Order: sequence, then structure tokens, then C-alpha cells
Amino acid sequence: MRNANRRLTLKSRPTGLAGPEHFAEEVVPISAPADGEMLLETLYLSIDPAMRVWISENPGYVPRVEIGEVMRAGGIARVIESRTEGFAPGDLVQARVGWQSHPTLPGAEVQKLDLALGSPLHWIGLLGMTGVTAYFGMREIGAIRPGETVLVSGAAGGVGQVAGQIGRIEACRVVGIAGGAEKCTFLTQELGFDAAIDYKAEADLAAAIARACPNGIDVFYDNVGGATLDAALANLRMGARVVICGRISQTASEALYGVRNLGLLIGKRARIQGFVVFDYHDRYAEARHWLAMQHKAGRIQQRLHVIDDLARAPEGLGMLFRGENTGKLVVRVAE
Ligand SMILES: NC(=O)c1ccc[n+]([C@@H]2O[C@H](COP(=O)([O-])OP(=O)(O)OC[C@H]3O[C@@H](n4cnc5c(N)ncnc54)[C@H](OP(=O)(O)O)[C@@H]3O)[C@@H](O)[C@H]2O)c1
Repeated sequence: MRNANRRLTLKSRPTGLAGPEHFAEEVVPISAPADGEMLLETLYLSIDPAMRVWISENPGYVPRVEIGEVMRAGGIARVIESRTEGFAPGDLVQARVGWQSHPTLPGAEVQKLDLALGSPLHWIGLLGMTGVTAYFGMREIGAIRPGETVLVSGAAGGVGQVAGQIGRIEACRVVGIAGGAEKCTFLTQELGFDAAIDYKAEADLAAAIARACPNGIDVFYDNVGGATLDAALANLRMGARVVICGRISQTASEALYGVRNLGLLIGKRARIQGFVVFDYHDRYAEARHWLAMQHKAGRIQQRLHVIDDLARAPEGLGMLFRGENTGKLVVRVAE
């Protein structure tokens, strides 16, 4: 449709999981770019668990999305009209485009893709926020060293896949935790994880981790939190590092899990640390360069799970919390 911006705005705040009922679809006229702005056509949207946090009453470290506001989202877009120096129609860019087909954004908030590093799909996956998060989480917070044992939860997801492969590249023994046999086979057969634990098939996750990591865990890269964190804490080695990247089991949950095993950190002289990828903004180029080189050398890959149509973005957000995504979840809006 010409001169039409399709967009999804926040209609109501969810309790529990978010779904299509919490968003409203609208078609509004395209906003013509002013000096210093550009009109974009959205191609791909990244769907991230953090989005569920952004639409809650008190998101914490980021401002919440207000009712009636376009849903916030990062994505890849094509420049349609530019009134920003250095950008021309046809350029491929990344930006916080939001859940809309034709955003008009200030040029200062838009970054041109370096296609020498990877394709637009690489830029939303491996070279996007998920890959960069895994890079800094594993190397800076986890401080992984060759020969160490690394356990990754949410291992078949966007961040987890990359975190585990970084561990393998750095000569660590890597064990992944994921839901279901297919995801576990993917980790060991396609991504080179040393072992995988299907947490849905284990009555006692701590015991399953002990079997897979008989000498204990040096680094636990946690995307899940709750009972998974407790089970990992029970298996730490002396001097272990616990990287709190995410806590998806708790994000949309109304009954929060009280972690019981924190006391074990004392005797193990272990460290537990959370982090936010945005703090490494000045070093994103370093991470992307390293990830692109590893990809070109055939040492790292990322499976995407692509669903079509902007209207399905809310459904995609729910999929993350039901474990229905088999890789980094992306909505294709146009091509
Ligand atoms: N700290 C940061 O700066 C930062 C930046 C980006 C992302 N993150 C965090 O990184 C984590 C992964 O994000 P992502 O974008 O890569 O998502 P993702 O892992 O691709 O998708 C979420 C996965 O979480 C698992 N999951 C959902 N509910 C669960 C539950 N109750 N218990 C156990 N597993 C559950 C599901 O896998 P299974 O089928 O295996 O259950 C699902 O596929 C999230 O916690 C996110 O918030 C943090």
C-alpha cells in the first residue's frame, strides 16, 4: 500500500504472557522525513524476550513502552528516502525501527550495514544484539579459559547458540540445556556442543548436570534463571563464574522462584554477575568483526527461526516464552 505505514501499538499491559490481544494494528499515513531524518521500509524485526519486560509496568533499567505507542523493536530496513547526509535510497541499515512497516527516524539513530561482514540476515542474528550479547557475556563476564567446563541454559535459542559455540572456539568443554530432544540433537550434532541436557525430560536437573559435568562447572551462562539457576549452582567448581544474561523462566511469571543455593557461592569462591549488552556499545564493532571472521572460517553459525508478516510479531513474542522458536526469532516484514 503506498503512503501507508502499518504499525502495531501497545493496547494493554499483559499479566503473564503477551499475545496478539495486547496490541492494536493501525494504518497511518507515512511521515515525510524532515532535514536530518530518513524514511525506511522495515525488512526484518528481531523478537526478543526483553520486549515482554518493556511492556510491563516497571521494566527497571529501560523506559516502558506506553499504551498507544508503537511497540519498540530493533530491525533491519531499507532506506526509501533520505534527508540525512551519507545515506541514500536503497541503503540497508539497522535501527530501532519498531513494529511498523515504514518508520521515519532521525539519521543519528540509524546505522548502515557493513555487508562485507555479513548479509542482512546475519546482521539481525549472529552480528545483531544476540550474537554481540553472547560475545561479551562469555568473554568479559564469564572470562572463559581453555579447558574449562561451560554450561549454557537456553542453549538452543538466539544467545545460547552463539554463547556455546564461542565456548567451543575457545577450547572449552560446552554443555547445553534446552527443551526437547530435537533442540538437544541440534546442539550436539550441528553446533558441536559436547553434551546437551533436555531439561523437560529430567526430573532432577541438578543430577543431570552432575552427570554431564562430572568435574563441575567453571562458567554457567544463564539465560533462564529460577530452578535452572539453582540446579547449576549446586554443581559449581572452585572459582566458578555465573553469568546472569537473562531469566526467561521468571520474566512473564507471576510466582517468582526463590533461588536457594546462593550460599554455595561462598565455599566455592564463586562470582555471580549480571550485565546489559548496551554497556558495551563502544565495542560492538570488535564483537561483530570477531563473529564475522569466525563465521567465515566455518566455526560459528546461527539458526534463525523466521516467521512472515508484521501482524505475527505479537505471536512471535509469545513463542519465545513457550519455547516454540528453534533459533533466533525474526519476523520478515518485507524483502
Ligand atoms: N543481558 C543482556 O544484555 C541480554 C541481551 C539479549 C538477550 N538477553 C537474554 O538472553 C536470553 C535469551 O534471549 P534470546 O533472544 O536468545 O531468546 P531465545 O533463547 O531465542 O528464546 C527463548 C528460549 O527460552 C527458553 N525458555 C522459555 N521459557 C522457559 C522456561 N520457563 N524455562 C526454561 N527455558 C525457557 C525456550 O527454549 P527451550 O525450548 O529450550 O525451553 C525459548 O526458545 C533471554 O533471557 C534474554 O532476556 C540478555
